[in-house]
Amino acid sequence: MDVPLTQAIRLIYPRLTVLVTSIDSVGRTNAAPYSWCCPISFKPPMLILGIQAKETRTIKNIKQTKEFVVNVVTKDWVQKAIKCEAKNLDDKFAEFGLETTKCSKVQAPCIKEAKIVLECKLSEIMQPQGADHYIVVGEVVTAKKDDGLKDSEIVMHIGGGKFVLPGEEMNLERGKK
Ligand SMILES: Cc1cc2nc3c(=O)[nH]c(=O)nc-3n(C[C@H](O)[C@H](O)[C@H](O)COP(=O)(O)O)c2cc1C
Repeated sequence: MDVPLTQAIRLIYPRLTVLVTSIDSVGRTNAAPYSWCCPISFKPPMLILGIQAKETRTIKNIKQTKEFVVNVVTKDWVQKAIKCEAKNLDDKFAEFGLETTKCSKVQAPCIKEAKIVLECKLSEIMQPQGADHYIVVGEVVTAKKDDGLKDSEIVMHIGGGKFVLPGEEMNLERGKK
């Protein structure tokens, strides 16, 4: 069945759900959920976010302070994370009951509940010709993982308000090098 091209990108799912925390040049912090988050380099460790090419608080903060934090969302705090999509709220952390902690190498806060945290310094912001999203490239400068994390807790975004948790695990033989 052909899918209209307006829906093509929605066929790339499920995607990791992350809460990106950031800070502006006068110290105001922010959080917003993202699911266009993709690794692009092991050495140095780098990832990209696809962020709509509009002046969202996240992109403004990243442009100002050149850093951000990727907090991987797990089942226990997913509803709070998703509510952070709300716009024009001064303090989404207080509004939705999220606790923050200090990061190691960036000024932006980390989410206390997050079991995987990737602190990033901005490498560059690109916009492919004609694209409606920026590619925000971050170099991971600190990575943390809670030892107790179960893979099945990690929330994946299907689209809209639909999410899924990883189900059956498979261990497959890979192609020999
Ligand atoms: C689950 C989920 C995933 C999202 N993923 C993205 C994404 O990958 N890219 C994007 O530009 N917006 C995404 N959004 C929308 C942003 O969260 C939204 O634009 C938000 O209002 C930005 O907030 P800010 O202005 O505080 O930065 C997503 C929203 C939800 C709920």
